[in-house]
Amino acid sequence: MSKRVLIVSSSPRKGGNSDTLCDQFRKGAEEAGNRVDTVRLAELKIDYCSACYACKTTGHCVKRDDMERLLAKMRSADVIVLATPVYFYTMCAQLKTMIDRTLGGAQQSGLENKEFYFIATAADGKAAMERTIDGLRGYIECLPGAVEKGVIYGAGAWQLGDIQGNPAMQEAYRMGNGIR
Ligand SMILES: Cc1cc2nc3c(=O)[nH]c(=O)nc-3n(C[C@H](O)[C@H](O)[C@H](O)COP(=O)(O)O)c2cc1C
Repeated sequence: MSKRVLIVSSSPRKGGNSDTLCDQFRKGAEEAGNRVDTVRLAELKIDYCSACYACKTTGHCVKRDDMERLLAKMRSADVIVLATPVYFYTMCAQLKTMIDRTLGGAQQSGLENKEFYFIATAADGKAAMERTIDGLRGYIECLPGAVEKGVIYGAGAWQLGDIQGNPAMQEAYRMGNGIR
């Protein structure tokens, strides 16, 4: 059965290491017959959560920006891929800002029972990436029925293009291709 896959690429570096892994994941997922949409957070306007909690009562964020459309895409996806470069041993600010904007029981309705994959890239080795992955795990622990399906570690990739030839490239394709 084909699934709806949403890839959230959060690096500001277009064509960078995590963005390239997103493309590989997408290729694998499409070749397995899934419907895939990729969003690049750098191309969207997403403001910070202001912690007003209006979403808890109204079901809507008071801010009218690109998060409305992105939240709708997240709700309609079966599978969500969260991709981030490691910045100071955690996820990048763009992804964290997006995550915070899914706050609130009302807003989170529709985000239940999703499958998640994580993609991270870092100059350092895999061990140094675990804090970043833990942060992403903390997020999905807040979403009822969320299932972690896989993690792609693009370790040892610093400069643009360093990810080429990294085993993470094949891993990204393989995980995407495994979605059925
Ligand atoms: C602001 C900033 C902070 C970074 N912090 C780390 C870090 O803590 N650990 C690390 O291994 N690499 C760090 N890096 C390197 C990036 O994680 C690395 O270049 C990665 O491949 C970027 O992925 P991208 O091409 O998808 O943006 C940092 C880069 C930037 C720009």
